[in-house]
Amino acid sequence: MIPLAQPDLGAREEELVLEVLRSGQLSLGPMGERFEREFAAWLGVEDAVMTSSGTTALHLGVRALGWGEGDEVVTSPFSFVASANCLLYEGAKPVFVDVEEETLDLDPGAAADAVGERTVGLLPVHIFGFPAAMPELERLAERQGLGILEDACEALGAVDSEGAKVGARGNLASFAFYANKQMTTGEGGMIVPRDPGEAARLRSERNQGRAVDMGWLDHDRLGFNYRLSDLAAALGVAQVEKLDSLLERRASVARMYEERLAGLEGVRTPLAAHGSELRSWFVYTVRLPQDVNRDEVIRRLVERGVASKAYLPCIHLFPHLRELGYREGQFPVAEAAAADSLALPFFPAMAEEQVERVCQELAAALGQGS
Ligand SMILES: Cc1ncc(COP(=O)(O)O)c(C=O)c1O
Repeated sequence: MIPLAQPDLGAREEELVLEVLRSGQLSLGPMGERFEREFAAWLGVEDAVMTSSGTTALHLGVRALGWGEGDEVVTSPFSFVASANCLLYEGAKPVFVDVEEETLDLDPGAAADAVGERTVGLLPVHIFGFPAAMPELERLAERQGLGILEDACEALGAVDSEGAKVGARGNLASFAFYANKQMTTGEGGMIVPRDPGEAARLRSERNQGRAVDMGWLDHDRLGFNYRLSDLAAALGVAQVEKLDSLLERRASVARMYEERLAGLEGVRTPLAAHGSELRSWFVYTVRLPQDVNRDEVIRRLVERGVASKAYLPCIHLFPHLRELGYREGQFPVAEAAAADSLALPFFPAMAEEQVERVCQELAAALGQGS
C-alpha cells in the first residue's frame, strides 16, 4: 500500500531522542528551549513557544488576543476543524466567509463584507500550505481595528506575495507538527508571539499559569497543561535541521505529480494555480471532474494499493457548527472544493516509481487508463 503520508525520521532523530533519555530530563529541559530557539531562527522571528499541538497553540493565540464571549471572528469554512474550535473554547463565534477559487484561502473581499459591530478579529488559514492574502487582510484589520491569528498549521515554509515567510509577519501565528506535516514531533505545535510580554504569558498559560520564577505549586493565572515533552522537542530539533531539504523534496514530488497528471482529462492539479511557487507543500490534492463518483475512485485506488482521501470537508457543516445556524449552500466555492478534492499519497521520500504508479492507478480509476 502506498500510504497518504510518511514521516522522514533517521539517525539524527534517534541520536537526539537518546540524548534526552540519557539526560533524564524529559520535560521543561534544555532540549525544549533549543527547539524553540532553532525553530524561531529558521523562521526568522524573535521567539516561538512550543505547545502540545497545533490546536493548543491556536487556543493560546485566541486567549492572547483576548477574544471571548460575544466576540465574532471572521474565518474560513475550508479548514481543519481546530481553527474554528479554538474560538468556541473561549466562547467566541466563528463567522465563516467563502474562500477564493484558486487558492482556497479566505477571500479578503468576503471577509471585509462580514465585518460587523461584534467583529474583533480575523483568523485566516493558510490551507494546503498556500499563503493567505495577508497584505489585504492586514489592511482590513488595520482599518477596522481587528486582531489577527494566522493558522499556519499546514504552511510551514510558505512564502507570501511580499516575500515574507508565513508566520513571520508580526501576527500571532500557529504551527502544527503532527506526523503528516512538513516536519513532525509526533504531536506538537508552536505559537509565534508578537512581543516578549506576550511570549511570557503564552509560556505561563502553557504551563498551568506558572511564571518562570515560580515554584511547581504556584500559579498566578488560569493555565493549561499544553507542554511538549523534551523527547518530542528532540525530534523537532532534528527536523528543523533538515527542514529546507524536507521542503525541497516535497516540492520535487509535487512537480513529478504535476508532470504525470498533465494528460488526465478534467483533473485539476494544485500547481496550475498561479503563485504556486509560494506554497509550502503539505498535501497533494487534485480536483476531480464533477461527474466522477469520488467514493468509487477512492475504493478502486485502495483495491490497487493506493491510499487517498476526500480532503477536506467543509467545517461549517459539522453538527456543533450547524448549531450556530450554518447550512449547505452558504459557501459555494468552499463546498465545491470539499465535494471534489482528493488527496493523493504525498511524502518527502516518495520515489518517482511510486508517483508514477499512483498516477496510473488514478487514470485507471477514472476510466482513462491506457
Ligand atoms: C489547518 C489546521 N489547523 C489546525 C490543526 C491542528 O493541529 P493539531 O492536529 O496538531 O492539533 C491542523 C492539523 O491537523 C490543521 O491542518
